[in-house]
Amino acid sequence: MKTGSTQHSVDEFVRQYGLDNYVLDLLQAIACDNEKIKDLLISDYLGNPLSAVEEEELLDYFIMNSIFSAATVANPATSVVTELLYSQSKHPFAIDQYFLESKSGKAIRSRLLRVEEYIHELIEDYRKDGDVLIGNLGGGPGRDVCDVFSSYYQDSSNVVAITVERDEMAIKRGTRIAEAAGVDDKVHFSRTSFMRFGPEKKFNIILLVGVLCSLPPETCVAVLKVASQMMADGGCIMVSNVTPLMVQEDPFTYFIMEKIVGWKLIFKTDGVMKDILNRAGLTWTNSFTDDYGFHLMAIGTK
Ligand SMILES: C[S@@+](CC[C@H](N)C(=O)[O-])C[C@H]1O[C@@H](n2cnc3c(N)ncnc32)[C@H](O)[C@@H]1O
Repeated sequence: MKTGSTQHSVDEFVRQYGLDNYVLDLLQAIACDNEKIKDLLISDYLGNPLSAVEEEELLDYFIMNSIFSAATVANPATSVVTELLYSQSKHPFAIDQYFLESKSGKAIRSRLLRVEEYIHELIEDYRKDGDVLIGNLGGGPGRDVCDVFSSYYQDSSNVVAITVERDEMAIKRGTRIAEAAGVDDKVHFSRTSFMRFGPEKKFNIILLVGVLCSLPPETCVAVLKVASQMMADGGCIMVSNVTPLMVQEDPFTYFIMEKIVGWKLIFKTDGVMKDILNRAGLTWTNSFTDDYGFHLMAIGTK
């Protein structure tokens, strides 16, 4: 059980730094299990230097007590983590439950929903002119496209997607997800880097969601230039990136992600995203966000 002093210090820390209640729940759960880790976590957040031994102790704790953390340490930006966040099932570890309940976790689920809605709108627009080919670059298992296809296009033969993904396991999962949803006839996978991919037929709609967030602007420009070569005349691209609002509104979650498990994001404003699209030779047409404003989805055309 928590001691009175732990309760007090955690309460005071959360209140003083204006953090959310789910931070309080997390710190209390960690304190119940390991008081020292709770203290190290707070100390690290406050910018007090930790010794190498303490930093390792903290990382070990996160790896051993959080599937999200272990997966991220092994491969930052893996779709294993986004897939875990998309599912709302209860997680056995307090740290993972924290990620799910945090604003950042909810924003990821909201991004998926908003992206799916917009994919549907785009498909409807392009379908007026004939067949629609979607390129889902870095699509992971391609859940977004699969959801939209299974909701609206089960019986359509003129809407097809190719997910270009370098992670074999994500493709295996995606193949099963598509099969289970009954849309495996219209979802194809190519296991390669999208930087090397040359589609036989150019894409009407290109998706680049959850891929650029950790890349500096110059690299994003290079990626978008390559993507733009895959775009059919009159086609469009949907590009997502995490915004500075995430770190402003959910600083403790980002602290865990960056400082403890080593997933550094490069937050980009819509001004920066506009500049990236421009430099890649694309024209910004419009944008939308998830319900928290943590992810910006920009739409561009050639
Ligand atoms: C965070 S996941 C996002 C997956 C999916 N787009 C979504 O929104 O849920 C990023 C994915 O991009 C893939 N990826 C990153 N760079 C890639 C590249 N150059 N070629 C192919 N896949 C790439 C990763 O393997 C990973 O599956």
